Amino acid sequence: MAAHPQADLMHDYAYPLPMGVLCELLGVPLPDRDVFHHWVEARMSNDPARIMQSAPALLAYLRQLVDGKREAPGEDLLTDLVHASDEEGSLTPQELVSTTFLLLVAGHETTVNLIGNGTLALLQHPRQLDALRTDRSLMPAAIEELLRYEGPVNTASLRYTTEPVEIGGVLIPAHQAVAVALTSANRDDLQFPDPTRLDITRATTGHIAFGHGIHYCVGARLARMEAEIAFSALLDRFPDTRLACEADALSWHGTMFRGLRALPVHLTRAQP
Ligand code: HEM
Repeated sequence: MAAHPQADLMHDYAYPLPMGVLCELLGVPLPDRDVFHHWVEARMSNDPARIMQSAPALLAYLRQLVDGKREAPGEDLLTDLVHASDEEGSLTPQELVSTTFLLLVAGHETTVNLIGNGTLALLQHPRQLDALRTDRSLMPAAIEELLRYEGPVNTASLRYTTEPVEIGGVLIPAHQAVAVALTSANRDDLQFPDPTRLDITRATTGHIAFGHGIHYCVGARLARMEAEIAFSALLDRFPDTRLACEADALSWHGTMFRGLRALPVHLTRAQP
């Protein structure tokens, strides 16, 4: 990005960073990363033709990666999962591949959108951005507020009612699938006063951007760490980042996830 005065922050920054982290985590060899990224992106697109094309290639690659870790164990999570499957029998071979796939799905687009949505929210609130720029100790609280204010995941994993449940005067019968609207709950004014206001110093306890209970996001700590690194590096390297278009012109996508298709920004490099 540093070579150009303008960038698409989604394409140039938000997408590559979490993909690099996932590749490190799973032990995807460096030369394979571009094609791997291409398959994952295609598989996660909304285009049936691209999905049909990429899914078998991605699956075959994951199987081959698993076999490779068996022959030559590495210092990575996939090696640990292979060990758990082969030695401890806690995952079937099918579960091993599907768990790897789940990590890719759950660990990529989500973090991408935290970086994208969070950056946009900060650029639209210059006073909050200034406060964060001058006092970096506000970063952890800012990330929680950005998760609450413009979270990357709209709905939790589906829940099923085992008995009739009444919520807010609405009766949900037994044996129904329930999609919990996380982004809506995070703007509940009973929990968060003046919920549509971004305030990086507010108390955010109780936000459910990472879900709740037994299926609470297993990657929450990693995601927070990635966001902290991403926002800090952006503030350090390009302290005067500005939107390069009207916010109304930005296009959003997603049903389960919520994110920007592109985020054009003007960049000014920090003086050495
Ligand atoms: C900002 C980034 C992220 C957000 C907002 C997020 C959010 C969520 C949410 C809402 C759920 C469903 C929880 C529920 O239904 O109660 C979930 C599950 C999950 N997440 Fe994340 N996630 C993020 C990053 C990650 C990362 C980096 C990884 C791994 C590398 C990851 C792995 C998972 C997995 C494996 C599950 C399924 C857990 C289960 O069903 O037990 N997530 N995440």
